[in-house]
Amino acid sequence: MSLAIICPGKNPDSWIQVIRELDPDLKIQVYPEIKEPEEVEVALVWQHPPGILSTFPNLKLISSMGAGVDHILTDQTISADLPIVRIVDEKLTFSMTNYVIMGVLNFHRRLTHFQENQEKKIWDMSDPEIEVKIGVMGVGALGGDVLEKLSFIGFPVVGFGFSEKNDSEYPYYSKSQLGKFLAEVNVLVCLLPLTPETESILNLELFKQCKPGTYLINVARGKHLVEEDLTQALDNGYLSGALLDVYRKEPLLPEHAFWGDRRIMLTPHIASVTNPRAAAPQILDNINRIRSKRPLLNYVNRSRGY
Ligand code: GLV
Repeated sequence: MSLAIICPGKNPDSWIQVIRELDPDLKIQVYPEIKEPEEVEVALVWQHPPGILSTFPNLKLISSMGAGVDHILTDQTISADLPIVRIVDEKLTFSMTNYVIMGVLNFHRRLTHFQENQEKKIWDMSDPEIEVKIGVMGVGALGGDVLEKLSFIGFPVVGFGFSEKNDSEYPYYSKSQLGKFLAEVNVLVCLLPLTPETESILNLELFKQCKPGTYLINVARGKHLVEEDLTQALDNGYLSGALLDVYRKEPLLPEHAFWGDRRIMLTPHIASVTNPRAAAPQILDNINRIRSKRPLLNYVNRSRGY
């Protein structure tokens, strides 16, 4: 039995170190040096080359290295009965929530505006705050925490998701009520999973339904956003600004218009990065669970897409 770590472009060393510390007997093979594919029973993956997983005849479990599994579900070669798990972790949630709060506070307290005034030595005390109501699209482990913490600080919040929900602690709108949801808020946070249904959901039609001047925070996936529609929505005042952490093509190409657009604040997909030390115990726990045929943690429902 061995664990294959497959994360091209990412340094696997910290994963290897922490997994070795926790389970010195577990054999680890690291892509592209997988010499004994028949030994691989569990694969820990991030943006694996499509098709590679079907070269392991004894594979029993696939674990994402992160919260998202879109990079796994788009690989059509993975057998339909292979279980997939993802990372749900306090540290990941903590970082994501703090990033979103930072974006909300920046908009609410007009920090960018005051920094621009600082550059021009302008002392202007007018309009110190923008009143905000935050709409969070995606109310899972991450979105749920964002709603809870923002609400705790004292902001009005509302959630949106594709499914019906009767047990939500916060006002909640489902798929058919998207227009109502958008009409209520002026900060829009996208934390949806990327599925065929949610791809390109942040498009001009949606932005037109927002309150004029809405602020967008996308911390989910680049493919949720139609990038040229964002520029158009900013030009037309449907949106007033955006904080982006994810892009359709990463790394963002040097010639991309977003780099030079002062209305957009961007970070390089760092809102919440899995911490191997925090996440490794649940991966090892799942390896034990699959061996002893016990229910898996953070199991992904493939038809739902998360
Ligand atoms: C990061 O993007 C993740 O899915 O954890």
